[in-house]
Amino acid sequence: METTHVILDPAYHIGAVDPRIFGGFLEHMGRAVYEGVFDPGSAHADENGFRKDVLGALRQLNMTAMRYPGGNFASGYHWMDGIGPKRQRPTVRELAWQSIEPNQFGTDEFMKMASMMDWTPMVTVNLGTGTPEEARNWVEYCNCPVGSRYADLRAENGSKAPYQVKLWGLGNEMDSPWQLGHVPAEQYAILAQQAAKLMKDTDPNIETVACGTCAISLPTYMEWDRTVLEYIGSFADYVSLHRYVGNPKGNTVDYLAVTNSIDQQIEEMDAVCRFVQARSKSKKRHYLCFDEWNVWYRTRSAEHTRGSGKFAPPLIEERYNLEDALVVAGFLNSFIRHADIVKIANIAQIVNVIAPILTRGDDMLLQTIFYPFAMYSSRRDGIALLPSVSGPAYDSPSYGRVSVIDTSAILGDGVLHAFLVNRNIKETAEIEIDHGRGKLVSVISAEAVSGPAPDACNTYENPNVICSQPLQAVKISEGKASIQLPPLSIVAITFRTA
Ligand code: AHR
Repeated sequence: METTHVILDPAYHIGAVDPRIFGGFLEHMGRAVYEGVFDPGSAHADENGFRKDVLGALRQLNMTAMRYPGGNFASGYHWMDGIGPKRQRPTVRELAWQSIEPNQFGTDEFMKMASMMDWTPMVTVNLGTGTPEEARNWVEYCNCPVGSRYADLRAENGSKAPYQVKLWGLGNEMDSPWQLGHVPAEQYAILAQQAAKLMKDTDPNIETVACGTCAISLPTYMEWDRTVLEYIGSFADYVSLHRYVGNPKGNTVDYLAVTNSIDQQIEEMDAVCRFVQARSKSKKRHYLCFDEWNVWYRTRSAEHTRGSGKFAPPLIEERYNLEDALVVAGFLNSFIRHADIVKIANIAQIVNVIAPILTRGDDMLLQTIFYPFAMYSSRRDGIALLPSVSGPAYDSPSYGRVSVIDTSAILGDGVLHAFLVNRNIKETAEIEIDHGRGKLVSVISAEAVSGPAPDACNTYENPNVICSQPLQAVKISEGKASIQLPPLSIVAITFRTA
């Protein structure tokens, strides 16, 4: 294959990478909380009932913002059901996923876990069946000093010190017909504005995320976002977007080009934000919070999405393969390339439910998508650079022309992190990285994920088919690097620079 030339000039800045783009999402759904992070009966449980093996694996993912408690679950959740003495917490029928929720894990357990894991908590309030006042009370419970009703309740429940939750979601996917309490854009905008005002009056330091369009296929795409942002103005700081992708036709080459469409979605949403800012002659620019993203297509049917009135039923437990790992890397490349626009992103989700980690009894399995996330998030500090890529490309039937090599880069302090994905199924790719007016001095670390076939995956019996391995095929000469990328691979390299 013809060599791909990548220029990563240190002067071509896109913007500082917000660490919160390496966020996760924990929903009360399926086996994400119960049997996932929280399993008091497990041999791996600590004194809180938290699974040490799962938290240990999550630590390797170096996640930042952690979104909780949903998702669709949030739209029927009453947070006071999940606090106080455990024996007194109600067991309720959960409607979003048709399951049973015993409320043995709630706000205080989540905050304890977030603090142990060094996560930035990101709480989604209920604007489906809840009220602005209930949302505001939750802010008081989490953030206010003792001396008023809900803050005192928190202290009674064990934490005198406020949790200082900075990020609050104003509902979840309220534009979707499947959402509990779904309403038209105008009605949601009024509700979200009322809630945000009360919440910000309770704690002026919080930041809020308005629900944007959750699926580009919905007929209200863009119109919903414009309506909401125009009305809510500075009561929201970010607008959310969601994206789940897949390969239902089994066409790997086409599937791997989906990053074009992720770039496009980000740019279209940003265009709405700028339009609203310009039209309202406001100083306020809304940034993007990509608070659900991943591969999800195999487990969409009712059998995988309806809990049939059970506790912790196995819901949407996708089994990921090599091509999915490349797509996850593609999402991350896209977020880095849009570092000036995307400030928060949360992979959906973290354990068992469309997740990089699976549990089965006391066993745990790291799925293919675990590895790109870990490779990128351990190299996240710095400024995103604008890559110039010239090399082979192809035409994808669904997503148009795309370069065989997908790239992003982060300039750190005396280091350059380069991320490369080879979409070619059969051939090794030759890459030359030119650091423009800078120089590459040496390789600090280099790792790659590749495998025998697009559908190769890890199993409990054979757990290391797809994992990251040190990459030797990187050479430096005269300040430039040449790299050989195996077919269907993800590579992350940290260079020392001068
Ligand atoms: O992540 C699974 C579900 O996908 C979330 O609950 C919902 O917000 C989205 O539709």
